[in-house]
Amino acid sequence: MILIDGKKEAAELRGKLKKEVLALKEKYNKVPGLTVILIGDMTPSQIYVRNKEKSANEIGLNSEVIRYPETVDEKTVLQKINELNNDDSVSGILVQLPLPKHINKQKVIESISHEKDVDGLHPMNVGNLSSGYQGSIPCTPLGCYLLIKKIEPNLTGKKAVMIGRSNLNGKAMAQLLLQEDCTVTITHSKTKDLKSECLAADVIVAAVGIKQLVKGDWVKKDAIVIDVGINKTDKGIVGDVAFDEVSKVAKALTPVPGGVGPMTIACLLKNTIECFKRKMN
Ligand code: GUN
Repeated sequence: MILIDGKKEAAELRGKLKKEVLALKEKYNKVPGLTVILIGDMTPSQIYVRNKEKSANEIGLNSEVIRYPETVDEKTVLQKINELNNDDSVSGILVQLPLPKHINKQKVIESISHEKDVDGLHPMNVGNLSSGYQGSIPCTPLGCYLLIKKIEPNLTGKKAVMIGRSNLNGKAMAQLLLQEDCTVTITHSKTKDLKSECLAADVIVAAVGIKQLVKGDWVKKDAIVIDVGINKTDKGIVGDVAFDEVSKVAKALTPVPGGVGPMTIACLLKNTIECFKRKMN
């Protein structure tokens, strides 16, 4: 079984991106900038944002985090986004989710210029992805995609099963694998027989938030299994895949932590650089 080393792959990608930032600096005499907006003090979000900032700085991007208290009003946030949309030093804008209930998530996402939407959540980018046009691709699915391609460069005709249908993960992941000529099934909480769907899959991407849902006897021999889950338990963080069981049948499997997570952040940096390059061209 191949234990997919997301940390190593992400470090490799960051190394390439760092060189690219240097080359861009040489060419344009400026570097891409990433601005993250963090509202409230939800601990996991704080940790994610700190990691994003650290990684951005490490590869030489300009990086800024704007923090608001939980009680900030929607208008203040929208005004700030408008300001950032018009700021030439900002290549990418990310508003960390989830948002407090009194702030309309859709309104916030749509207020970000689609050209600076490094999350790939703006409807324009969702449309771009499903049409096969250029645009930002959500960071986690993009990271999963790169990991899968490393294991299996030719995915033509493979059967891929997504578990979960979120905008951030399942739906975007399905589009990426469809573009690779996979036959894609998107499953969700109302799916009748999830085990049978999984057993037919050459590639499984689990992004549903149910700890150790995917069991060893759900997985076909030599399938590639990507675990996006981050579930808290008494014994620490576990994924959506029963790692010990599935590692006995899968061809390749991502661990949690150390699998998809580091790739998500590296892909955010990649998206920021891509936004900068599209603007410069
Ligand atoms: N919260 C958890 N994952 C993400 C992500 O990929 N983007 C944003 N904006 N918020 C998140």
